[in-house]
Amino acid sequence: MSYRRTIKLVCGFAGGSAVLVVAAAAAESRGYFGDTQGERSGQWSRFNILQAAQPATWSAGNHTVASTGHAWDFNWDKREPPPQFTNGKKKENTSEDPSSEQENGKPKATRNILFIRHSQYNLSGNGDHERILTPLGREQAEFTGQRLAALGLKYDIMVYSTMARATETANIISKYLPGVELVSCDLLREGAPIEPVPPVNHWKPDAVQYHEDGARIEAAFRRYIHRADPKQKEDSYEIIVCHANVIRYFVCRALQFPPEGWLRMGLNNGSITWLTVRPSGRVALRTLGDSGFMPPDKLTRT
Ligand SMILES: *[C@@H]1O[C@H](CO)[C@@H](O)[C@H](O)[C@H]1NC(C)=O
Ligand SMILES: *[C@@H]1O[C@H](CO)[C@@H](O)[C@H](O)[C@H]1NC(C)=O
Ligand SMILES: *[C@@H]1O[C@H](CO)[C@@H](O)[C@H](O)[C@H]1NC(C)=O
Ligand SMILES: *[C@@H]1O[C@H](CO)[C@@H](O)[C@H](O)[C@H]1NC(C)=O
Repeated sequence: MSYRRTIKLVCGFAGGSAVLVVAAAAAESRGYFGDTQGERSGQWSRFNILQAAQPATWSAGNHTVASTGHAWDFNWDKREPPPQFTNGKKKENTSEDPSSEQENGKPKATRNILFIRHSQYNLSGNGDHERILTPLGREQAEFTGQRLAALGLKYDIMVYSTMARATETANIISKYLPGVELVSCDLLREGAPIEPVPPVNHWKPDAVQYHEDGARIEAAFRRYIHRADPKQKEDSYEIIVCHANVIRYFVCRALQFPPEGWLRMGLNNGSITWLTVRPSGRVALRTLGDSGFMPPDKLTRT
């Protein structure tokens, strides 16, 4: 099964994320998203969200070690091939066909995932459907689309958040990438991934917001960020158009940095963040929030 097919099964499925849409819509109406102001934060402990989204063994395992920088967890995506595929020897009988099991079980391809932050939108709109791109935002998306086309990569798919500003951005970019399939996904909507450390005064979502969004955004991370499937033969280039909080959280998680540090990074509108996931499970951040392809007067500062 191709990667594209997997995504379609997950995200092209209307009923699948209905609960999440409702949760996100409720959050939206309360104005808790990254570009807007929230209310006071409730009592909240650091790893609650992640633990809620994890199997029981995870929090008792080596996560703390990995997230504090003492170790790299190679099996972070739980796709590390079993030892008989990795120790260079076959188990017992070496007269078997060498192209069989061993070759099928090991990832071979590199995944390139290019995140696009949606471009500037009207912050005064009531609800998501009114928060559409400004004329400048539409121009920014054109620059991003041109840039992605100029990079000349063989894009496999473009997945976008169902929020209006991300959908609009994806549609504009799509003009420059004819033939690249578009798939929408509710998991990628904006939200409060995890309480930031240090906290900021101008953005204080309630505990319930972290509780709801955190699990969803962690689910999105697991859905999209992992090494290639063993069946994937060629390197892939996938575009994900979504939101600043989601992208920053993904970057922290992918690099095994403390996830609560996400708010220490900033991303310009329409910028490109590029992660590479090797078949070995190694991850590299190629660019973070690149917007150098836009003329300076098109960058949003406010
Ligand atoms: C965590 O990693 C350390 C060092 O590799 C190892 O000694 C320990 O057994 C691991 N603990 C768990 C619970 O996996
Ligand atoms: C290796 O596999 C072959 C074919 O399946 C079998 O005939 C042979 O007995 C096996 N040898 C060992 C040492 O298991
Ligand atoms: C991007 O645009 C939004 C409004 O659409 C604005 O709140 C935000 O500050 C902009 N980002 C940057 C980095 O200028
Ligand atoms: C932004 O949205 C508000 C509320 O819908 C509207 O009054 C205003 O004209 C919009 N601004 C722009 C630049 O579209």
